[in-house]
Amino acid sequence: MAATDPHSYADTEQGRIQHISLQIEIDFDQRVFHIRADYRLDRRVSGLFFLDCSGQDIKRVQAGTHSIAWKKDPPDAILGERLRLIDLRGEQAFTIEFTTSARASALQWLDPAQTAGGKHPFVYSQCQAIHARSIFPCQDTPSVRITYDAQVSVPSGLTAVMAAAPTGVQRDGAASAYSFRMPQPIPSYLFAIAVGELGFKALGPRTGIYAEPSVLDAAVWEFAENERKIIEAEKLFGPYLWDRYDLLIMPPSFPYGGMENPRLTFLTPTSLVGDRSNTPLITHELAHSWTGNLVTNATWGDFWLNEGWTTYAEVRISEVVEGEDQTQLGRILYLDLLRAEVQQFGSDSPHTRLKDPMEGEDPDLLVSGIPYYKGSFFLSRLEELVGRAAFDEFVHRYIATYKFQSVTTEGFIEFLKQELPAAAERVNLHAWIYEPGMPVDIPAITSTLYEDVQRRGADYTRTGVLPDRDDVRGWHYLQKRMFLRLLPRTIPADHCGKIAALFGFEPDGNIRLLYEFYRTCIRSGYRDALPGIEHFVEKVGRHAFLVPVIRTMTETEWTRDLVRPMFERYRHRHHPITVAAVDGVLAQAGL
Ligand code: BES
Ligand code: ZN
Repeated sequence: MAATDPHSYADTEQGRIQHISLQIEIDFDQRVFHIRADYRLDRRVSGLFFLDCSGQDIKRVQAGTHSIAWKKDPPDAILGERLRLIDLRGEQAFTIEFTTSARASALQWLDPAQTAGGKHPFVYSQCQAIHARSIFPCQDTPSVRITYDAQVSVPSGLTAVMAAAPTGVQRDGAASAYSFRMPQPIPSYLFAIAVGELGFKALGPRTGIYAEPSVLDAAVWEFAENERKIIEAEKLFGPYLWDRYDLLIMPPSFPYGGMENPRLTFLTPTSLVGDRSNTPLITHELAHSWTGNLVTNATWGDFWLNEGWTTYAEVRISEVVEGEDQTQLGRILYLDLLRAEVQQFGSDSPHTRLKDPMEGEDPDLLVSGIPYYKGSFFLSRLEELVGRAAFDEFVHRYIATYKFQSVTTEGFIEFLKQELPAAAERVNLHAWIYEPGMPVDIPAITSTLYEDVQRRGADYTRTGVLPDRDDVRGWHYLQKRMFLRLLPRTIPADHCGKIAALFGFEPDGNIRLLYEFYRTCIRSGYRDALPGIEHFVEKVGRHAFLVPVIRTMTETEWTRDLVRPMFERYRHRHHPITVAAVDGVLAQAGL
């Protein structure tokens, strides 16, 4: 399905890149990659060929032995630069030699002190949504797929990993060269690389963990269920087509919970909570192996096709592996998060629409819960209308039809009308997809685990009496989280201390609970929480959790003047994506 992508300068009418061979030399001193990239196109091209790039120092462009003229357009703050190859003469292959910028937006370079081990530097990429172009010139749109191979040269003692199949390593004195091959065609945003002091342990025949040695064993315990999840997911969505599913445990500044890089999910270390309660995150990233990585959104305006479908798929896998009651409790949380998000944007905000074209805007800054939760409830609603059996058949056909392709929202609607007319006719497609605000027909959700929490929350609101330890003993993390979300916006400050004692909160504890708790503390004027909040602002790189805490501080009288200096103390620790998001919130607050 063709689409013009407002976030790319590529013009697929000129031709498409099919394969890239990369020779990458990682330079930790200069914080750059020196790259030679050999491109192969799907056809012979004469005249112009456009590529997305950003900040590279281009040394030369060649086809065979003759050089090709090129020119860069002036940079755009969001899109980067258009690289024009001028006057190709029926070429189907060319080579570009270049060096990345030390400020390449896809790369974070870490000092040894920012790693778990503390002895070796670390570098990693995060390409989604439009950062691949800051590593190598490419058609940086999710509607173009490439295969690649790569040879990565790193200082000896360090290990290179990629979201690809490792095919060997050659060591010679000061450097090691790791080779990779990516046989499955991927959109550019799924290109991924990391280099650091890394160990590996197997979990099952297709699954394993890469991590810094000091966290490897904890990760092996936490994610022991991964192989089983693939088996269950295959029953729901069809065969797993990426051969392996490994995890890479990232340094703390990783700006997301997880990133579904194919064959090798990148995962926040805050998921190592010691009780396996954060494994739905893995379920989500694994589910992207079908929804997102196989069937891919054609533009970032169709992001819900990736995230809404994946949240729906995550819930379906979770029903099997975590059980019904806990999964439904999770969905109640998603509903609550959706309501909060709609309220935050305002219910007539265009950013609460499922299809949000985001033209002229930076896709990083618009990542919100809307595509995730509204998208998944939309699919649940379709399921409710036709029943699970018919919907499951539809899901199988959707994935089988579009695997290794990109889909637009409009293409999806066509497919739905054709393949599941009973649902398409009975749901208000226009309202769900193109209108802002809360949908009116979200399916009802029930969970007995929730009822207990709801009763305790209502009791507290009515009487001011908190539950005691016996009441909450055995509560699942999701129950604690829901309880915190049910608290009134402000509570007496001393009750915050009681809640911390009730749940045994420690500064290095579960960040998803601390994030709810600290926002209540801030709004309630509980000053004793300040050291814990500072620790949070220092350590938590996940922008989905850090940004709301910062925002709450800007909105509250007693913390308003503290927040900017506090963030400045730790700015250098955080990823540029997180920094940009925090800066946006501070600027919006006039700070
Ligand atoms: N693909 C996303 C992360 C992402 C989104 C990166 C947009 C860049 C731009 C990933 O699958 C994801 O959704 N991660 C979530 C966790 C998930 C369980 C909701 C996150 O990082 O919080
Ligand atoms: Zn996702």
